[in-house]
Amino acid sequence: MSTMSASAVEEAKRAAAKVAVENHYPKNAQWVGIGSGTTIVYVVEAIKALGVDISATKFIPTGYQSKQVIINAGFTAVEFDAIPPGTVLDVAFDGADEVDEDLNCIKGGGACLFQEKIVATQAKEFICVADHRKLQPRLLTNWKAIPVEVAPIAAHRVITKLKELGSVNPVIRPSASVKEGPLKTDQDFFIIDAPFKPLLIKADLEAGHDGNGKDGVWAVETLASKIKAISGVLDVGIFRGLTGPQATAAGGVGGERPV
Ligand code: 5RP
Repeated sequence: MSTMSASAVEEAKRAAAKVAVENHYPKNAQWVGIGSGTTIVYVVEAIKALGVDISATKFIPTGYQSKQVIINAGFTAVEFDAIPPGTVLDVAFDGADEVDEDLNCIKGGGACLFQEKIVATQAKEFICVADHRKLQPRLLTNWKAIPVEVAPIAAHRVITKLKELGSVNPVIRPSASVKEGPLKTDQDFFIIDAPFKPLLIKADLEAGHDGNGKDGVWAVETLASKIKAISGVLDVGIFRGLTGPQATAAGGVGGERPV
């Protein structure tokens, strides 16, 4: 558990965003994905601070909050479904809730995971901006549950299936106001937060663990695929397939596209 003051936390996010943008914002970028959450505000701040010409640059949001951040910065927002077919984004920046040693991420703390994933997978390079608090040996060390975006009509069935995979007490995320019932995503879907034991990384598998869910212990990739395969699941908040030597202690964690 972090004992940092609130202002130190904000400074850590700002520092991670600065490192990530200064190292990974492409020269003459035309299409830039902008993720969701609080760190992304500092990413946009850092892009402004670069002082580059963005008059022809289109910024692709990953949801309502993200779009407001883009517009408030004076940047041009273009919705994902308005980009011309075949367009590949030059880069996509986003935050994360937790990042493991293999640079897999948990995302969806802000309930935007589906749009975040389609924007990230449409980009040449996905830069996950995570300050040092988020880096852990394994996913589900500090962050306790995997966010799963589901069709409301299927939510209870998905909960049953998640329990069969070993999740103890998966819950539909409530909205801020109890009276309003479950939180709704930008797709009008629900989020189920599914707790699991910490997820095995490559080193664990190389050491002989199978990660096939015995005793509820899963490898990242295996569990992500099993959850994605449940009918009613739109997407799962595990972003895997991130690699790259760009990871820095300050937090600019970059790599290839997530799958
Ligand atoms: C939203 C996300 C965010 O990127 C994640 O929750 C990190 O947020 P923050 O930068 O506020 O810590 O996945 O769905």
